[in-house]
Amino acid sequence: MGQAWGFGRHGGPEVQEFFDRPDPVPGRGEVLVRVAVAGVNPLDHLLRAGLVPGLDGGRPFPRVLGMEAAGTVLARGEDVDGLDVGDAVFGFALTGGGTYAETTVLSALHTARIPAGLSATVAATLPVAGTTAVDALDQLGLPPGATILVNGVGGGVGLAIARLAAARELNVAGTGSTAKRAAAETLGVRFVDYTTEDVVAAARELAPGGFDGIVDLVGGPALRTVAPLARDPRTVIAVGDQSVAELGGRFVERRLDRKNLERAARLAIEGVLAPPITAVHPLSDAPAALATVEHGHTAGKVVIEVAGLG
Ligand SMILES: NC(=O)c1ccc[n+]([C@@H]2O[C@H](COP(=O)([O-])OP(=O)(O)OC[C@H]3O[C@@H](n4cnc5c(N)ncnc54)[C@H](OP(=O)(O)O)[C@@H]3O)[C@@H](O)[C@H]2O)c1
Repeated sequence: MGQAWGFGRHGGPEVQEFFDRPDPVPGRGEVLVRVAVAGVNPLDHLLRAGLVPGLDGGRPFPRVLGMEAAGTVLARGEDVDGLDVGDAVFGFALTGGGTYAETTVLSALHTARIPAGLSATVAATLPVAGTTAVDALDQLGLPPGATILVNGVGGGVGLAIARLAAARELNVAGTGSTAKRAAAETLGVRFVDYTTEDVVAAARELAPGGFDGIVDLVGGPALRTVAPLARDPRTVIAVGDQSVAELGGRFVERRLDRKNLERAARLAIEGVLAPPITAVHPLSDAPAALATVEHGHTAGKVVIEVAGLG
């Protein structure tokens, strides 16, 4: 039995609640994990609101929030390769376990061991934000010296992309509100403040011939504002807004497998991927953690620390 935080029905923050649940039983291809740290992502509140039915899996209520975690394997289901009881791991809770909880089940194919040199806190941010950054930049495949615009550079995925793009010797520009300028500029990003500047004019000054690639993390009107700044519309990659296809761009192609997690871990250890962690909340403070992200103006990554590793 362990404490969990989730929701009893779809809706706004008012449907959230703490409850006790028995430890989930790991099914085929799953591991039961004692959660050390859970990453907090915009997808969590979108699932709570019932806006992503394809990922809900028809699970019964109450459902536990959270898609990613780092922790320790307590038990293995059938057909689990490469993970043992006692291993420190990080990965996705794709089958509905929810990670804002003392224990959860992770999908073994989408979970990797935490290598030496990587903290559980950083590892917990890699399944969603870390591998998304890797996937978006791989999809663009830009050579050193190319120009890239990151729309929404100050959040979890944005700062991960900024760091990785700099390591690939890209010229990085990024948009965000005033509070994000310092974090972005520290990573070498040429920053456009969308709250005080004309985004199109300022970005055109940075890349008069157009950007070689754009990664959009905001969607909606903000995506439509920046999309024409790409030299070629096919180099506009959106991470959250599928309507990018209407603009000639592409949605990010995600790779959630263990190999990609291991790659993200190596890049994080090298110091070229992990986004800065700006807030660490205890599980009892999970409502505040998700409220920060739901507000839509997160800086870096927010995580929930549930317990120590081990
Ligand atoms: N497809 C996938 O597998 C996948 C994976 C990860 C994330 N996502 C999606 O990608 C999106 C970003 O994720 P995230 O984790 O980076 O979110 P996040 O941490 O909440 O960051 C979003 C950032 O966008 C900034 N922003 C908001 N409005 C803006 C605007 N008009 N112009 C420029 N910046 C603006 C926000 O702060 P400021 O306004 O203060 O600058 C914030 O820093 C979300 O929609 C998420 O669901 C998808």
